[in-house]
Amino acid sequence: MRTVTADNITDTFIGYFGEETDPRVKEIMSSFAKHLHGFIKETEITHDEWRYALELLKWTGDITTDERNEFVLLSDVLGVSSLVDMIHSNPIATSSSVLGPFHISDAPPKENGADFKRHYPGEVILVEGTVRDTDGNPIAGAKVDIWQTAPNGKYSSQDEEQDIHSFHGMFTADENGRYAFTTVRPVSYTVPSDGPVGKILNATGRHPWRPSHLHYIVSAEGYRSLVTEVFPDDDPYLDQDTVFGVREDLVTTYTAKPAGSFPSEGFELSGKVDQAYSRIDFDPIIEKLD
Ligand code: BEZ
Ligand code: FE
Repeated sequence: MRTVTADNITDTFIGYFGEETDPRVKEIMSSFAKHLHGFIKETEITHDEWRYALELLKWTGDITTDERNEFVLLSDVLGVSSLVDMIHSNPIATSSSVLGPFHISDAPPKENGADFKRHYPGEVILVEGTVRDTDGNPIAGAKVDIWQTAPNGKYSSQDEEQDIHSFHGMFTADENGRYAFTTVRPVSYTVPSDGPVGKILNATGRHPWRPSHLHYIVSAEGYRSLVTEVFPDDDPYLDQDTVFGVREDLVTTYTAKPAGSFPSEGFELSGKVDQAYSRIDFDPIIEKLD
């Protein structure tokens, strides 16, 4: 096309694709161009505004390191990460939710009943559940990778006072699919807001808070791995998670248990906890691969 106009530029763009272009690439890039060109026309973006958007993207690249991926955070706060999750989720399995940047690939193996809390102050939280398939059968040997913030709202990689493995653990479900551990209540915290993502949040009058949560990756051979999170039902940010990660089936109750009722065996803290504690029951459901 020699004479490119605002009316034909999208078709011209698509017409430039080579004949050998992979059909899926063609589908995605055609749709991307249609929506992007449509967005420019609808908003009548000015040169200054577009230059500013490109500056923000450049900053996103500049600030990204192996430890901090600002592009992932951008995708999270735009709702894109959650939307990708939602359109691919199986309604009878547990909902997936954002991975976030604080997962570590070498979580230390933990025995069922192990304790994350250690010297940290606050109430003991007992977490217990059964990993099941979509027919309700327990999955023996499933891996349950857990991570969370310390009570100061920081993940181990953000906090000089914590060892990198602190509040991270890899559990193996027993022959009944059961996993269990104790910990301290995770807290609401803010996503990093000192970069371009913070600028976008600020410009749109949004806060950077996430409701408190426990992160899970549940996996087993022959099953689709589940990346998810579990939230308490009384968190003030439950209805306004800045990365859109909350799903109805991921909201749990921290059930108050009276002093003197902590299990007398099966936990690292058995025999050491006299005071009241809370318990979370969460049974992840994962789906078989075809
Ligand atoms: C997190 O839950 O760890 C997280 C998720 C998305 C962005 C930042 C942090
Ligand atoms: Fe998190």
